[in-house]
Amino acid sequence: MYKNLALNLVRVTESAALAAGKFLGKGLKEAGDGAAVDAMRKAFGAIDISGRVVIGEGEKDKAPMLFNGERVGNGNGLEMDLAVDPVEGTNLLARGRANAIAVVGASPSGTMYDPGPSFYMKKIVCPKEAASGIDIDAPVKDNLLTIAKAVGKTVDELVVFVLEKPRHRQLIADIRKTGACIQLHTDGDVAGSLMAADPSSEVDVMMGTGGTPEGVISACAIRALGGWMIARLAPQSEEERCAVAEYGKDMKEILTVESLIKSRDAFFAATGISGGTFLRGVKYAKKAVSHSMVINGNTGTVRWITSHHPRQAM
Ligand code: FBP
Repeated sequence: MYKNLALNLVRVTESAALAAGKFLGKGLKEAGDGAAVDAMRKAFGAIDISGRVVIGEGEKDKAPMLFNGERVGNGNGLEMDLAVDPVEGTNLLARGRANAIAVVGASPSGTMYDPGPSFYMKKIVCPKEAASGIDIDAPVKDNLLTIAKAVGKTVDELVVFVLEKPRHRQLIADIRKTGACIQLHTDGDVAGSLMAADPSSEVDVMMGTGGTPEGVISACAIRALGGWMIARLAPQSEEERCAVAEYGKDMKEILTVESLIKSRDAFFAATGISGGTFLRGVKYAKKAVSHSMVINGNTGTVRWITSHHPRQAM
């Protein structure tokens, strides 16, 4: 059943990507997101899964979304917790920029961290070999030295993925002081986290504060892929801090990939919307072509899938 689940999840991200791709660069962030949400919800209805959306994404930006607690799937398959982001990188899509992707993470019912109303999370993602030495409160240079040693590089050979946000001015300065290389991206830290966890990619580390939903979705992939992640909730406003406290979340708790996803049976699927370094984008022709990645944590299998979709499926 797990085998079918992995491939079924790709059908879901493919549907979202095919719907969203038609909005590439049109400046219609909400409409593109909305089309992807509708397509994803419909695609879930056609697959064997009894899913509960733990993370619907979209609340932070009041964007269209699958709702937290929403039941999805035809109800016949495994009971799974789901984290979904029909368009990860809505601004990237609206501007026709690289690396917008449709993503879904899944783990057995009751094993996914529920972030409640938390919007932001501080995260470090790196290869598993560096896991034991990473401390979320340590100076940037100490963590980068640990990672460099673990992967057999010097610090100035490391590539760090960072979201280009005003809140990261100091972080960027600290990384530059160490001599490490930086990839600055306006959006899309799920792709950044995946690249950091994957030893074959050009990125070694993902650092900084990004979306909490994106953090949990990334944790699904990292759990299944075998990388390392450490994180902590990091509210960015008083309103968020109060909401998180009221929900009973411990803002001091150090979260690891293993506490974010408490099962090895984690699944992740992503389909490219706009072409990028990580996945190629959707191409519409007589048959639309999509490019996806799916990770089955149960077997450790990673598949790269190119699909040709007849027009009536779009
Ligand atoms: P959306 O697709 O929801 O717009 O998220 C894009 C993103 O860049 C994420 O990858 C990242 O985690 C988050 O936004 C950062 O939030 P903000 O743009 O508010 O700093």
